Amino acid sequence: MDAPIGFFDSGVGGLSVWREGIKLLPGEHTIYYADNAHCPYGAKEPDEIIARSIHIVDFLLTHACKLIVVACNTATAAAIDYLRTHYPVPFVGMGPAVKPAVQHSLSGVVGVLATQGTLKGRLYHEILSQFATDVQIIEQPGDGLVELAEAGQTNSDEARALLQQYIQPMLDAGADHLVLGCTHYPFFIPAIARIAGQRMTIIDPAPAVAQRIKSLLIQHNLLNTSGDTARHAFFSSGNLHAVREMAARIMRQTTIN
Ligand code: DGL
Repeated sequence: MDAPIGFFDSGVGGLSVWREGIKLLPGEHTIYYADNAHCPYGAKEPDEIIARSIHIVDFLLTHACKLIVVACNTATAAAIDYLRTHYPVPFVGMGPAVKPAVQHSLSGVVGVLATQGTLKGRLYHEILSQFATDVQIIEQPGDGLVELAEAGQTNSDEARALLQQYIQPMLDAGADHLVLGCTHYPFFIPAIARIAGQRMTIIDPAPAVAQRIKSLLIQHNLLNTSGDTARHAFFSSGNLHAVREMAARIMRQTTIN
C-alpha cells in the first residue's frame, strides 16, 4: 500500500496529470519518468513507442510501483493494450475526452487538439464512433506544441502564433468545446483562453484521470493509509532539469491554491 504510483510521459506533459493526482491523493508517494531523450512521441511509429513504454515500465517496476499511469495520450494509444496484457500491475491510460465535450456542446461543433499518433490511433476512433456520431469534430494535430512545452515556452510569441493558427479555424466553425488530447497541452490553457475568450470551454481530462487512479487504488485495496509524508521522485532519460523545474512550479501553485 505504501509503494509509489508510477507516472510516465515523453516529457513534462504527464506532470499535468501528476498534478491532479497529488492534489486528489496527497498521501501517495509517486515516481515520475520523463522520456525526454526520445521526445516527442507524436510522430513515432507505434512499435517504437511500445518499446520505450516497456523499458520505462520495467524501470518503474524496479521501484515497486503499485499502479502505473501512462500519462501520455500517444503512448496510451500505442502501448496500453500491450502493457495490460504483459504486466500484472493496474494501468491507467489517457484518451481524448470527447464524451463530456459532446454532451455539453450547444453548437454541435467540437475541436480536438492532439498529436498525430493519437489522432491516428484506434482508441481515438473508437471514442469517436461511440460518442461523436451526431456532432462535427474538427481535428487539429498540435505539431510543435510539445517541443515548446518542453522548452518552458507555453506563453511565448511562437506558442501564441501556433495556437492562433490551430484554434482560430475551430472558432470560425463554431466550436464551443476544445478537447486537449495531449498531456502537454494543459500548460497552454492560459494562452488558449486568451485566444478563445468565453467562446470555448477547454477540456483537460486530468481531473477525471485522477479520480480513476483513486477508484482503482480503492478497488485493489492499494490506498496508502500509512500517514507518512508523500515523497515524489523524478527520473528522466534526458534533461532532468526541465522536469524538476516544471514539477517545482506545480508544487508551488498546488501549495498556494
Ligand atoms: N504528452 C504526450 C501526449 O499526451 C505528448 C506526445 C509527444 O511526445 O508528442 O500525447
